[in-house]
Amino acid sequence: MAQQVLAQLYEHATPQSLALVVLLLFLAAVRLATPRSRAEKLLSKLPSPPFRLPVIGHLHLVGPLPHRSLRDLAGQHGPDVMLLRLGAVPTVVISSPRAAKAVLRTHDHVFASRPPSAVSDVLFYGSTDVGFAPYGEYWRQARKVVTTHLLTVRKVRSSRVAREQEVRLALARVRAAAAARAAVDLSELFSCFANDVVCQAVTGRLPREQGRNKLFHDLLETNNTKLLGGFNLEEYFPSLARLSVVSSEAAKHRKRWDDLLDGLIDKHVRKTANGEHEEDFIDVLLSVQEEYSLTRDNIKAILIDMFEAGTDTTYISLDFAMAELMRNPKAMAKLQAEVRRCTGKGKEMVTEEDLSTMRYLKAVMKESMRLHPPASLMIPHFSMAECDDVEGHTIPSGIRVLLNVWALGRDPTCWESAEEFMPERFMEEAMDADSDLQGNDFRLLPFGSGRRMCPAIKFTTATFEIILANLIYHFNWELPPGTTGIGMTETYGINVYRKEKLLLVPCIAQDV
Ligand code: HEM
Repeated sequence: MAQQVLAQLYEHATPQSLALVVLLLFLAAVRLATPRSRAEKLLSKLPSPPFRLPVIGHLHLVGPLPHRSLRDLAGQHGPDVMLLRLGAVPTVVISSPRAAKAVLRTHDHVFASRPPSAVSDVLFYGSTDVGFAPYGEYWRQARKVVTTHLLTVRKVRSSRVAREQEVRLALARVRAAAAARAAVDLSELFSCFANDVVCQAVTGRLPREQGRNKLFHDLLETNNTKLLGGFNLEEYFPSLARLSVVSSEAAKHRKRWDDLLDGLIDKHVRKTANGEHEEDFIDVLLSVQEEYSLTRDNIKAILIDMFEAGTDTTYISLDFAMAELMRNPKAMAKLQAEVRRCTGKGKEMVTEEDLSTMRYLKAVMKESMRLHPPASLMIPHFSMAECDDVEGHTIPSGIRVLLNVWALGRDPTCWESAEEFMPERFMEEAMDADSDLQGNDFRLLPFGSGRRMCPAIKFTTATFEIILANLIYHFNWELPPGTTGIGMTETYGINVYRKEKLLLVPCIAQDV
């Protein structure tokens, strides 16, 4: 039989197709003859889609919105744990709360590292930031600097005045638009607001210097959409990375960060030398530089992390929350009633004290983040040892692990009416207590869980609540004339963004 097939093939074949067949047979023979590593043997036992192509593996199955493609693939081939061969990099995808718990809690110590990345090595000075640093002593120290000097509850409370000042500026812009009956680009307003709040905390008074906001915006956009945006080929063909365009683009881009950050650091050094001490985060970093053995490059890497991690995520959450409220007028009315009741009439602004009793506002934040976690696949994790207990599967050492947080939040087996925006679900006593965004409810992980979880939940909550409550307290919102709805189409970078600008017309509320 085999002889017949070969004879027919020989008769009809062109020299090129014969050469291809010989090459494929040769590669198959080499593969069979090469003893498979233990890791390969273990990987071959993991559930995985069958449609794998030479060289690119499963990359062709991942569409422009990876969180959606991965959810659909997992549904068919590995609802808890699934292996994808993405180019040369085997990647395990986690898509169920039980498997997420195994990775982020039970075996957190095994999975708490980050995979090597040529792009983050360039952008973050040898990955010496916090978010992309491999697990180890450097990461521990860098994270400690950030959590003890920028993101503690006390620090977040003490930056309240600065936050309220940013809210006043945003409200003034919206009032001007309301007076002119003009639409406000809320996506842009949220983006500037989030960036200004982080800049205030990190650099003191510098952000509104001429052109700085735009500069930050450009730098972050390139970081997040062009360079770190999860599915660039570079990540999946590491041996090509050194030659490739993306690495050299990253190097050019890093130079622009260098210029900005060196300028900021020099300014702070001069200020301290002149005895003007303000105690923003750059001042603190410089004062603890020796204690933590940080080089100037380490300081720059940590600073980029703060701008990077702090700006887009916050603006995306606000943008999606406001978009959902506009699409769900009952939820908007309920939130408006709560904010106005808890704040009282005739106030210049909603303050942080007023926020503490606003339960529905907190439910809106959770519900919006359940449906639209900005970091839908988090930052990849990396196994530092073999782990034989992830929902009955063994994951070898040295494997990239993606957690599809977006899929967890929409899992119909865990959530009633999973695709609907229903903040009420978080108003029930039990649900309210369990689903705290602190990484204890493995169906709801917008900030992750475990050792690598986001250290900025308090900071983010304070920023999110104060601006949203004020926009809702002072204004009623309408769609611009001639528009019929709000587009929820997404685009993917390192985060998931709403594609369209959120243009809304504010009307000053008369009854508050
Ligand atoms: C809506 C806002 C935010 C969301 C949804 C968010 C979400 C996340 C997620 C999912 C991770 C990765 C967790 C993991 O890999 O297990 C992370 C890490 C991180 N986030 Fe956030 N984040 C937000 C805001 C911020 C802000 C405002 C800052 C700082 C100013 C910040 C700083 C960081 C840092 C430094 C890490 C790396 C932690 C580590 O690797 O040890 N984030 N964040």
